[in-house]
Amino acid sequence: MNSSKKYYWPIIIVFVLLALSFVLDMWGKPIKIKQNPTVDSKFLSHDTVRDPLVHGAKIEQAGFKYNCNECHAYLQPPETPKKLIGAHQHIVLKHGINDNCFKCHHRTKRESLVDIYGTEVPFKQSAQLCQKCHGPKYRDWKAGVHGRPSGYWDKTKGETIKPTCAACHNPHAPKFQPIEPAPAPAGNH
Ligand code: HEC
Ligand code: HEC
Ligand code: HEC
Ligand code: HEC
Repeated sequence: MNSSKKYYWPIIIVFVLLALSFVLDMWGKPIKIKQNPTVDSKFLSHDTVRDPLVHGAKIEQAGFKYNCNECHAYLQPPETPKKLIGAHQHIVLKHGINDNCFKCHHRTKRESLVDIYGTEVPFKQSAQLCQKCHGPKYRDWKAGVHGRPSGYWDKTKGETIKPTCAACHNPHAPKFQPIEPAPAPAGNH
């Protein structure tokens, strides 16, 4: 046997022992991986925070749906709205100086909203109502900068979906309310 080969053995033994020590996991502490909490499905929803009246001007009372005119056809509209005592008590205006129902609702045709010239605007196009006082935001929304557009930018591939203003803002108290954050990840780092 030639003398240089003699030195291989200790090296081989050292490597075999090292390999064994890795296999038997003799060093190091076991890492406990914390599991992420299961996320409630509400945090994964893509829905907007509100369900706007895009399918017509209706209200729900005691499980029944009524069109506005089912009552308003028989009610004499006041010149200026008074404090509500007979209906719609859940509506509390918090829209700054915009504090008159008839700035937005048609005085005599209750199933319509009104634009700046007093022309009727259907409920499903309520963004046009907002436009009369929020021109720059409406412009941003049309351009796709405000209001979370989805679908396609490239219109040759498909439609751009733009939720209407009332899908996110309650027209009566429009300040966007904070959303509850989803729980943080378990923090393994
Ligand atoms: C169940 C009957 C009923 C329905 C349906 C109804 N309203 Fe009314 N509404 C009333 C009554 C009653 C008043 C008057 C309340 C008062 O003076 O206290 C009123 C008042 C109002 C006012 C305040 C101005 C006014 O005329 O006194 C607005 C604005 C209004 N309603 C909008 C609507 C809209 C929009 C709808 C449909 C989306 C609707 N209402 C559906 C009963 C109804
Ligand atoms: C900034 C404009 C604006 C003002 C001011 C306003 N509304 Fe509305 N209102 C709307 C719009 C827009 C809708 C449709 C909401 C939707 O699509 O979700 C609506 C919906 C309603 C509805 C049907 C939905 C519901 O919540 O019952 C009633 C009733 C109503 N308004 C009554 C009133 C009354 C009464 C006043 C005055 C005290 C008033 N509104 C003031 C814009 C306005
Ligand atoms: C007649 C005019 C008028 C119309 C119509 C109108 N607004 Fe406003 N809006 C105002 C004014 C004035 C303010 C400022 C209120 C303040 O800060 O005092 C305001 C404020 C707001 C704000 C900011 C609220 C905050 O506290 O930060 C939002 C959001 C908003 N409007 C959304 C809407 C939407 C959505 C519509 C349509 C459904 C709409 N507005 C229609 C006049 C209007
Ligand atoms: C997909 C949801 C969504 C839609 C759709 C949407 N907004 Fe907003 N908007 C928001 C949020 C969220 C904020 C709050 C931003 C913040 O608090 O910093 C906001 C803020 C605003 C403000 C207050 C801005 C300020 O500078 O204080 C106005 C006014 C407003 N929106 C008007 C509109 C109008 C008008 C439309 C429709 C043409 C619209 N928004 C559509 C989500 C939306």
